Amino acid sequence: MTEIRAKAQAHLVPHFTRGDAWQRDDLLIIDRGEGCYVADTGGDEYLDGLSGLFCTNLGHGRSDLTAVAAKQMDRLAFSPNWSSAHPSSIEASALIASVAPADLNRVFFVNSGSEAVESALKFARCYHLANGAPDRQKVIARRWAYHGTTLGALAVTAIPNFRDPYEPMLGGFVRHVDNTLGCSGHSGPAAELPCVAAVEQAILAEGPETVAMVIAEPVQNGRGALVPPDGYWQELRRICDTYGVLLCADEVINSFGRLGHWFGSERFGVVPDMITFAKGVTSAYVPLGGLIVRDPLVERVWDSPASMFVHGATFGGHPVATAVAVANMTAMRDELVFDGVLANEERLIGGLRALMESHNCVSDVRGAGFFCAVELTRDRAAGVGLTDSEFAELLPGGVLERFVREARVLVRPDSRGAAMLAVAPPLVADASVIDDLLARVDQVLDRVGGWLRVST
Ligand SMILES: Cc1ncc(COP(=O)(O)O)c(C=O)c1O
Repeated sequence: MTEIRAKAQAHLVPHFTRGDAWQRDDLLIIDRGEGCYVADTGGDEYLDGLSGLFCTNLGHGRSDLTAVAAKQMDRLAFSPNWSSAHPSSIEASALIASVAPADLNRVFFVNSGSEAVESALKFARCYHLANGAPDRQKVIARRWAYHGTTLGALAVTAIPNFRDPYEPMLGGFVRHVDNTLGCSGHSGPAAELPCVAAVEQAILAEGPETVAMVIAEPVQNGRGALVPPDGYWQELRRICDTYGVLLCADEVINSFGRLGHWFGSERFGVVPDMITFAKGVTSAYVPLGGLIVRDPLVERVWDSPASMFVHGATFGGHPVATAVAVANMTAMRDELVFDGVLANEERLIGGLRALMESHNCVSDVRGAGFFCAVELTRDRAAGVGLTDSEFAELLPGGVLERFVREARVLVRPDSRGAAMLAVAPPLVADASVIDDLLARVDQVLDRVGGWLRVST
């Protein structure tokens, strides 16, 4: 255990992790997983309350998926999707098209969510060029949204400390507008919501003839599982149609059952022009991402003088990844996994809300499907928030992480815009796993409450 930890600390560069946190003696090393649980190299078991990173949708240890991967490697380990194709990517694209909304029938495969977002940005550009509208270069995205880390995806991401070091490289083609957080208490028609007006005003302020695309997650992860008000997505659709702007739903988290449907867009009854996906498409057994586009848009690009979508990646639609995607989706369908999510979502979200009642350090619980956020405060009853120094001690890499670890639950302490816990178990979590998850979150909240009392 010590030896492998020392090797990690000497050689492995972590993602979004402070150097001092990485050098701690108790660095967590996860070694194996089964169902909704994983274990570290010391044998301690943890409930995977974040599905890895919102991606182990079918849970761990599915030997049917590993068998499909091995079989595909034996048959054809690799062949590209450039000028030729192979059966795995063809079957995966057809299966995805069959469950995607309306005429979203064309699938462009990549390897990650960031690449999927890059692909959407580039496709929007190629489409507008094909339409003779070269000035349409700007993108509207929302505050606190996370859309990935590659430079294009980072440009649409609105999390200041992820952007700050790279700001000069981000091109200045994105306008960020309010997300739906402030709209949750509003009544009345969706068209009058300030978060809807913000999108339209941004398009008008930039000049509609310069705007290429609006990108948004159906339920936004950054700032904590922001569920849109009724009619919000219909309004985004109306606005985009009015001004000739493409609407892209970033469903890297929201798709493949996270909200109890193949796509979050289905839950909110909207047909976007493009959908980005990754993560759950293979339940994270192998990396795969992609962009789904409506038929006429692809045809428009192919019929233009450029005659191609000018973009590509060696491993986009890798035979093994796409074979696993087919097996994963087939299992999701045959095992009625989404019915389980819809049947149990109230147990999860209602259970978290019940914890809010018993813990004065919780200011809000939000979410849909198996995708929730628990927002923390100092004293909900008195309406007193965390002080800056309490916030800094809790997050990131602070005491909240220790409390989570002690409760043996992998939920994510999140400091982006507020102190929060992200909770998103594998979709195969049944009532007993959810009850176990709630008990462990209860333990974390007990510890937070106790810590706040002592720090008074
Ligand atoms: C909505 C959204 N878009 C894009 C990404 C980037 O995906 P990846 O980390 O696979 O590049 C993420 C990652 O969490 C995401 O949540």
